[in-house]
Amino acid sequence: MPSLTATLTDRFAAALTAAFGEDFADRDPVIRSSQFADFQANVALPLAKELKSKPRDIATTTVDNLEVSDICEPPEISGPGFINLTFTPEFLARTLEAGGAAAAPENADPQRIAIDYSAPNVAKEMHVGHLRTTVVGDALARTHEFLGNTVIRQNHIGDWGTPFGMLIEHLLDVGVDSEAAAEVSENPNAFYQAARSKFDADEAFATRSRSRVVKLQGGDEETLGLWTRLVGYSRDYFNRIYSLLDVTLRDDDLAGESTYNDVLAEVCDELEAKGLATLSDGALCVFPAGFTGREGEPLPLIIRKSDGGYGYATTDLAAIRSRAINLGVDRALYVVGTPQAMHFEMVFTVAREAGWLPETVSAEHVKIGNVLGSDGKILRTRSGAPLRLAELLEEAVSRAKATVAESTVDFTDEEAEEVARIVGIGAVKYADLSVAHDTSYTFDLDRMLAPIGNTAPYLQYAGARIRSIGRRAEAEGVDAAGVANAAISLEQPAERELALSILGFADVIAEAAAGSQPHRLCTYLFDLAQAFTSFYEQCPVLIADTPELRASRLRLSAIVLEVLVAGLGVLGIRVPERM
Ligand code: ARG
Repeated sequence: MPSLTATLTDRFAAALTAAFGEDFADRDPVIRSSQFADFQANVALPLAKELKSKPRDIATTTVDNLEVSDICEPPEISGPGFINLTFTPEFLARTLEAGGAAAAPENADPQRIAIDYSAPNVAKEMHVGHLRTTVVGDALARTHEFLGNTVIRQNHIGDWGTPFGMLIEHLLDVGVDSEAAAEVSENPNAFYQAARSKFDADEAFATRSRSRVVKLQGGDEETLGLWTRLVGYSRDYFNRIYSLLDVTLRDDDLAGESTYNDVLAEVCDELEAKGLATLSDGALCVFPAGFTGREGEPLPLIIRKSDGGYGYATTDLAAIRSRAINLGVDRALYVVGTPQAMHFEMVFTVAREAGWLPETVSAEHVKIGNVLGSDGKILRTRSGAPLRLAELLEEAVSRAKATVAESTVDFTDEEAEEVARIVGIGAVKYADLSVAHDTSYTFDLDRMLAPIGNTAPYLQYAGARIRSIGRRAEAEGVDAAGVANAAISLEQPAERELALSILGFADVIAEAAAGSQPHRLCTYLFDLAQAFTSFYEQCPVLIADTPELRASRLRLSAIVLEVLVAGLGVLGIRVPERM
């Protein structure tokens, strides 16, 4: 089903071609405007100069050539030359009756998209920053898959580097299979801190740790085995969080820093051979064009330290090369915190200069803003210790349990548990998704769990309410097949508004995906739920005047539910059966 804007855009292309010639077919003029009409087209003003004619005259000529009588009321020209368009209720009804309102819009050119997200660090606790990149990245992955693009998830975990010497030695000290070792998967920070304190206090341990790093980098087999054990414990921890969060990351999506070990030397050699890398104080550096420091001095991206070691930048250069060349992606998204903006700009620039990233491939840093505590600082526990993510999520679920307990629905304990999980986790995820990804927001469970406002529980409740209306209709003997095929009537303004809102889904989801902006989908779903609420207040459904009208309104409600479930679904949020 083409979207309403797509339909109008096609009609305008034909009109502009007929009026002014082929060259004018590609003007994209249509915007939604609830104030004056359903849509407003602004073609005349931008064309005035080109056509050397008055905008109002251009608008008149355009309208004379515009064939929309089958779908719209007669177009009206307003102001200096805007064209106002209002769909006929018959057309809106026919479009809804044709089905597919909750389906993905047609994707004429499916893309391959690498999405780098989550990316926590081995033997460390995931923090709220990782929570947010995980949630936003997963929503983008689901959205693109829904649209028919191929998504390659890349969980670029921090699984390599100098701390692994100390971590491996500590693992040996506590015993590889001991309970203390298993702590890496239960409370990673405690394990890390223990290793760290020993490293700082015990000279012999520090020495052992350093030589262990050398062995690790040299590919010593026993050391690699220990490293694998350590990564395995962490993987268990990540997977526990992922399953709690209901995100789609699997072991197969792991593409940690270590993945690129074998090609780092090659990456450096290639950059040197291309004349892009130069030695500076013993370190091999690239100075990408356009990056200068405070004094105007060129800024380096260090790709090989003076001790011969490689760092974060080298790994990311290898990663982008692999994504563009080996994985053959059209887009590479990096869902990572805003503080790393400069790093990615430099990496992208170097990759372009090196010819690894052709113009046809876009590399995009989807910047993730901070999650703040009520004090306006990065969220931490009261004691200032880093927050335990699992505990935070469990708290959201237990608070949701309190809300569920107030519900009028008589849940079994098991159901109550399940609903609290869907609502609590949904609330946390939705809070991450409903604000622009690059802004910071305050983590506030009360606000996230509020039953009214732009929150997951509000939307979930709207969905659950429609399900309950459907169940009541069934109990009253309304024929389900009749509802599924009912003629839709849009005589009431609230019905019409709801229809327009429903039919906006296709555009919004495509825009949210193109611009990596899940919050636009959230805003849309919130508007849809509100449109449903007004409709439900103004238009009796189960006690509608006639059986036909009842069937029409039940069908309209069912379509809203489909869109809500599909929209929340791509955000990674479920709608409970009852709430
Ligand atoms: N592990 C890094 C961190 O915790 C994030 C990695 C992001 N991805 C990347 N390709 N650099 O900050």
